[in-house]
Amino acid sequence: MDNTILKVKGLSKQYIIRNGLFSKKRYIHAVKNISFNIKEKEAFGLIGNSGCGKTTVANIVLRLIEPNSGTVEFMNQTITELNEKDLRNLRKDIQIVFQHTKTVLDPKMTIMELIREPLHIHHIVPEDEIEDEIDRLLTMVGISLTEKVKYPTQLSGGQNQRIIIARAISTRAKLIICDEPVSALDVSVQGQIINLLLQLKEKLNLSYLFISHDLKVVKYMCDTVAVMNAGEIIQIGPTEEILKI
Ligand SMILES: Nc1ncnc2c1ncn2[C@@H]1O[C@H](COP(=O)(O)OP(=O)(O)OP(=O)(O)O)[C@@H](O)[C@H]1O
Ligand SMILES: [Mg+2]
Repeated sequence: MDNTILKVKGLSKQYIIRNGLFSKKRYIHAVKNISFNIKEKEAFGLIGNSGCGKTTVANIVLRLIEPNSGTVEFMNQTITELNEKDLRNLRKDIQIVFQHTKTVLDPKMTIMELIREPLHIHHIVPEDEIEDEIDRLLTMVGISLTEKVKYPTQLSGGQNQRIIIARAISTRAKLIICDEPVSALDVSVQGQIINLLLQLKEKLNLSYLFISHDLKVVKYMCDTVAVMNAGEIIQIGPTEEILKI
């Protein structure tokens, strides 16, 4: 049986840059003819120097930007051709965990409201079960229920990252894209968040597209690794072969 969940084929993206209204167009070839597959329950690492195109790949998979060429298939539907309604379902099935910054979580919403939002928007459980579901998700990511009434600014960076993860798993996503999920956190907290992601992967049968520049984290977390350089994948394979360190 083919257990591939995401198929990326021949993806390319050029950004057009103009320095001024009348200046000549310049092209940045951010992603060049990239192909890779992610299987069910696989943690797939994407590594490479700053500016090599990792986030651009993530944004194309999420259909936040359009590629110039290539296709992305998720569970046998071609993401790059989806209509509005199917795109809404995709937003449920593929979630993203960004690097925690003050802008990711709305500072005016309580923790409870932040978890309720995706549950409500995507009709994940009946309305009268939402409160129990919020408690279940918070417990799953290791946040005490007494924190529910607090605001993001009243929690630590690690706790906020757990809230971001709770929102990502709340929609029963199959694939979670993690773009530098721990790089803004203290080293001691990084390990806890990585272990949480690994636990959730086992418990919920998740796949990850895991973007990071930290080879130690990638080595610990990922089954497969692709190395990017200047928009291209220059190496791809099992983590223990690619990262022999
Ligand atoms: N919206 C945009 N408009 C123009 N150029 C862009 C845009 N987004 C990214 N780029 C350029 O495309 C290239 C790839 O950027 P991208 O953000 O994908 O890199 P990255 O590998 O995620 O880097 P980092 O590790 O720093 O996050 C870079 O040269 C960047 O400057
Ligand atoms: Mg990036």
